[in-house]
Amino acid sequence: MARKLILDVDTGTDDAVAVMLAALHPALDLIGCTTVNGNIPVASCTDNTLRVLEHIGRGDIPVYEGLARPIVRSEFPISRKVNDRAGKYHPGALPVPPTTLAKQNASAVEFLIETYRAATDPIALVPVAPLSNIAACIALDPKFVSLVPELVIMGGAHALGNVTPSAEFNIWGDPEAAASVFAAGFEKITLVTLDCTHRALITAAHCHALHALGTPAGQAAADFIGHRIAVHDDDQKQEIEHSTPVHDALAVGFLINPALITTRRLHVAVETHGELTVGRTVIDTHFRGSEAPNCDVAFDADATGFAELLLRTFAGKA
Ligand code: BDR
Ligand code: CA
Repeated sequence: MARKLILDVDTGTDDAVAVMLAALHPALDLIGCTTVNGNIPVASCTDNTLRVLEHIGRGDIPVYEGLARPIVRSEFPISRKVNDRAGKYHPGALPVPPTTLAKQNASAVEFLIETYRAATDPIALVPVAPLSNIAACIALDPKFVSLVPELVIMGGAHALGNVTPSAEFNIWGDPEAAASVFAAGFEKITLVTLDCTHRALITAAHCHALHALGTPAGQAAADFIGHRIAVHDDDQKQEIEHSTPVHDALAVGFLINPALITTRRLHVAVETHGELTVGRTVIDTHFRGSEAPNCDVAFDADATGFAELLLRTFAGKA
């Protein structure tokens, strides 16, 4: 039976590839997408998610809009206007046709709480965006944590930062929300960090192959990833020439094939105060703290396996 999941997104170029992978891979049953403020304002994330789903013939998957700002702060730690690096990687509307679909009436938080209350099968929750919606669910429903069997989060970093020298965007985007999620006591959290996603680079050659598939998903993935490669070449050159991480899709790939990433069981907490370090995931790699591990933290990935998974799925041959 296909594994059920809910994808929490701020779509976004790499989120869009994650949405397509989750919607099209036969081993997964994407029961809904929830959106949140992040790469771009939440209304644009919702519009992009609907566009992508309609474009690949999966307009049947419902989309629920979530929080428009972090749970405590009125803005990101540094205002989006001042630090618009995310905007370069994620242009407003994605290059697929406008959608005829509409978001659902219920909010993301209502959908998440009601779905987990009613669930009879396990549903993995996969946030690949700031954790505002998840923190709101924890705050509103005391049982939420015990009802979610598995969280797969794209976020955080150990040796890298992308939005500041010490922080990754999704955790930095709502540090108080992230801190509450890691401290909440979820049974199983897998953290797909930047250290891991930067080990699974997708290259311009892969983009050519995706485009050549001739499918809507293959061509859209080539466009989205091609845009990322151009920005990375300019802003943040990778070890392999003309390549980019496709962070969020790797988190979905892990649900399809856990062997795609390598993890260590460690304690993770989030810095919410530090002037230089706000949003940093403090990962206790050498067991210096007193807290028990709360997370499987991914540091490495199978780059070839990930690229092949994208190609097979978007060819319709998974
Ligand atoms: C994460 O930040 C966002 O810009 C991407 O969509 C991804 O979820 C990577 O740091
Ligand atoms: Ca994202």
